[in-house]
Amino acid sequence: MTLSLHTPDLIQKKRDGGTHTRAELEALVLGFTNGHVPDYQVSAWLMAVFLKGMTLQETADLTLVMAGSGEQMNLGNLPRTVDKHSTGGVGDKTSLILTPMLAALGLTVAKMSGRGLAHTGGTIDKLESIPGWTAELSEAQFLKQAREVGLALVGQSKNLAPADGKLYALRDVTATVNSLPLIASSIMSKKLASGAHTIVLDVKVGAGAFMGTLGAGRELARAMVDIGTHAGRQIRAVLTDMDTPLGRMAGNSLEVLEALDTLRGHGPADLTELCVALAAEALSAHGEDPAQAEARARQTLVDGSALHKFREFVAAQGGDAGYVDNPASFDVAPGRAEITAPEAGYLQRIDALSVGRAVLVMGGGRERKGEAIDHGVGVELLKKPGDAVQAGEAVMRLYHRSGRGLERALELLRGGLGFGPAQPAAQPLILDRVN
Ligand code: URA
Repeated sequence: MTLSLHTPDLIQKKRDGGTHTRAELEALVLGFTNGHVPDYQVSAWLMAVFLKGMTLQETADLTLVMAGSGEQMNLGNLPRTVDKHSTGGVGDKTSLILTPMLAALGLTVAKMSGRGLAHTGGTIDKLESIPGWTAELSEAQFLKQAREVGLALVGQSKNLAPADGKLYALRDVTATVNSLPLIASSIMSKKLASGAHTIVLDVKVGAGAFMGTLGAGRELARAMVDIGTHAGRQIRAVLTDMDTPLGRMAGNSLEVLEALDTLRGHGPADLTELCVALAAEALSAHGEDPAQAEARARQTLVDGSALHKFREFVAAQGGDAGYVDNPASFDVAPGRAEITAPEAGYLQRIDALSVGRAVLVMGGGRERKGEAIDHGVGVELLKKPGDAVQAGEAVMRLYHRSGRGLERALELLRGGLGFGPAQPAAQPLILDRVN
């Protein structure tokens, strides 16, 4: 480590469009993680990176420095390990379905997941709508469960890639989140430190995602695939649409209910297809023939094996597995409101961001880390873009608690809806793949 490098010189170098060496990145990032380089200097440096960018080599070096800034999980004793990451979206309950599918397919998922922040949901928050379920496992419990059940899921450990936790908190308040090298290194440092052999990345593109365009999404996917491959892992990336929320439900309990429907083989087509595609990518990264991989993945939703695995996983982490078979037991907020179509025609657009924000203002998400959330509130999309509507027909149903945030949620949702006389062209969900 070269802590003697002068921090203002490093900031100036990036400000002027220079390229950092690995030693320089170590000095900055590890110095910051250890408390030797102050926030205000790193804030200036982050803005310089945001404005000037980084080469792929710099991004890869930054990722490895961040991944090595704390503990690294050793999953080497577990068979066929796989991890999945989504760059964040609205109504994205994919992990709840995909991870038991993967375990039912004989892969091992020992995964760290996040909580929701701002308009995007988090897997841990969703699973906590099942009473008793806990994300707090010791490392020994986590590894034992992964071996025995094939699926264990915990919160992001603070000891894993701690540089990312500190950098992300600073990016969040300095308008430097939306930078390709910073996003790629943030995601991949955590994934590399988490130890899985195969990593499947779901890169979201569109209004509800960090990457607004397909071009930007492809660039991010390419960078992450290259970084992971360089580090000796098998990486697959799928680019998927996040203009419109995935499935029909947004909100914690509602999303678990939709995930359970999907595990029973009765889920919405877009969600089912995405889970099958991601599972098939994981299997083919482990050497299976792609067509056979897809058929095997689909079968887990038909024969009940993925649902069985989910039940086992919930029970292993202290959850009441009875909830899995009894949807009526979930806490769904009792208040109801509907948004109707102003005229006959077609629903053209549902802005994913406005749906995410509506859930947030009703209490289903948090604006600051650590805030309590209401698992029962949410939005159900009764119609999706391309569906015909009659004047006055309900297109969305809101589940609210005593009217909390309802007026603002209605306003947000109405602002994100588009109607028109012509049926819009169907948008593919899977936009591209990068291997
Ligand atoms: N998710 C992350 O983990 N980091 C980012 O920078 C963006 C999304």
